[in-house]
Amino acid sequence: MQQTTTVRAGGIGMGVRDERLVPYASQRVAYWYFVVALALFVLQLVVGLWLAISYAFTIPQSIVDVLPFGMTRAMHTNLLVLWLLLGFMGGTYYLVPEEAEREIYSVPLAYLQLVAFVGTGVAALVGFAFGWTQGRPILEIPTLLDFVVVIGALIFLFNVGMTVLKGRKTAILGMLLGGLVFLAVLYVFGMPFYRNLTIDWFYWWWVVHLWVEGAWELVTASILAFVLIKVTGVDRKVVEKYLYIETGLFLFTGLAGTGHHYYWIGAPRAWLWVGGIFSAMEVLPIIAMVVDTFHTQRQRGVVIKEKVVWTFALGTAIGHLIGAGVWGFAHTLPQINYYTHGSQVTASHGHLAFFGAYALLNLTMFWYAMPRLRGVTRFKTYPATLGFWVMSLAVLGLGVAMGIAGVLQTYIERVLGQGFMTAQAQMQFWFKVVLFFGVFILVGALITFWHMVTAKQMREEAQESP
Ligand code: HEM
Ligand code: HEM
Ligand SMILES: [Fe+2]
Repeated sequence: MQQTTTVRAGGIGMGVRDERLVPYASQRVAYWYFVVALALFVLQLVVGLWLAISYAFTIPQSIVDVLPFGMTRAMHTNLLVLWLLLGFMGGTYYLVPEEAEREIYSVPLAYLQLVAFVGTGVAALVGFAFGWTQGRPILEIPTLLDFVVVIGALIFLFNVGMTVLKGRKTAILGMLLGGLVFLAVLYVFGMPFYRNLTIDWFYWWWVVHLWVEGAWELVTASILAFVLIKVTGVDRKVVEKYLYIETGLFLFTGLAGTGHHYYWIGAPRAWLWVGGIFSAMEVLPIIAMVVDTFHTQRQRGVVIKEKVVWTFALGTAIGHLIGAGVWGFAHTLPQINYYTHGSQVTASHGHLAFFGAYALLNLTMFWYAMPRLRGVTRFKTYPATLGFWVMSLAVLGLGVAMGIAGVLQTYIERVLGQGFMTAQAQMQFWFKVVLFFGVFILVGALITFWHMVTAKQMREEAQESP
């Protein structure tokens, strides 16, 4: 990173813009997207702890009545999706000016859109507390709010689209915009409620699966490519070549891979084959991405100065492989999914995949952009790295504990054929372990986030680079 000689920045907030760090003034909108995203992530974790408590202990009915599991679970998952989407949007607003080599088309629209999304989020959370929900997991928000989301998404696509149209066109921008349009279009398929439940689930998965195993992969690949080019200095052409190959593979395997959710919902039998074969192949582009990331570093052969960004980038490559690749593969074949479907094995995979692939990817981008936005070029790396390890190892611990609970559940309920509560009694200990690791996830997250928004500029001679 270029060095500045001034020593400033400290406390929460943006520093004075340093043009060598943040070349375009409009990139600064990203700051607020990131700050809101971090706050929502913390809230998501706090609610997650309550979910773990609900499994680990027998709670008095009077408390359950106030904080029922269904309501708090909806808050936990919706907060997750909201903060990740805000992170993607902030990341997009940060990188588009540098790629397109021009200011964002409209800064007021970018802020308006942030307000629309945050407003929807608050309305949704308050609504859940009063039972205002569609009931469909992850897509619980009522149809009225869906329309606000659509308007917000249209503003976003228009704003980014116009910037790209008027500026330099790069492969990263093409891929990013393609992924964002795909993401928005898929959301619309999840809006109507179909009376036939098989049809309803069929399209529900278009949102849930095709987001995380399709559109989001494109957005992720583009953001990661941007960061890799900046941090390693590897030739754009090399990074872009892999971007094309990976994206092609993601789409090829991920689209038909949706079939791994159609095994037991009443869809035609052919999905057992299509889903099994294609979803098993989804592991290939994920492996390609990991190999590619390490290869990029080796090819360049220089010591990477931005240690924190690099730790998070490698973390997301490996986390993606473990959570989505290994844990996904483990239960994707129909012969295994027949037993594990809808159990805590699924939840274990959900945590490791979402965290490894998307939480860490977002945090990689945040760590790239936030110090620059705050005018900090050199800062202590230790708290950020400590936060990374505490958070990541704790998520792994949580995932393994949930996985063990899931295997017990599967065995007791589906092999032995015993009752739901018989299984729950055996699982309770493992949810205490989940709760234990959950506390550490929150601690690790707080350490790294606090450092991200407050890290102070260090003097040149201190020689600890970002
Ligand atoms: C980063 C990418 C991924 C994320 C974020 C993710 C997340 C999730 C989540 C949250 C669920 C639970 C949905 C629900 O029932 O409410 C799920 C289910 C599932 N995922 Fe993934 N996943 C990813 C990639 C993969 C991959 C690559 C595979 C296969 C190789 C896979 C295989 C499965 C299967 C088979 C299920 C259904 C489990 C069941 O029947 O209960 N996932 N995933
Ligand atoms: C304080 C840490 C956390 C705790 C204690 C926790 C706990 C839980 C619990 C108990 C559930 C309900 C599972 C069920 O329905 O039976 C859940 C759901 C979920 N959580 Fe967390 N969570 C935490 C952090 C996270 C993080 C960091 C992520 C992602 C980055 C995440 C993503 C999810 C997802 C996607 C689901 C839905 C899973 C599914 O559909 O199967 N959680 N969480
Ligand atoms: Fe899937």
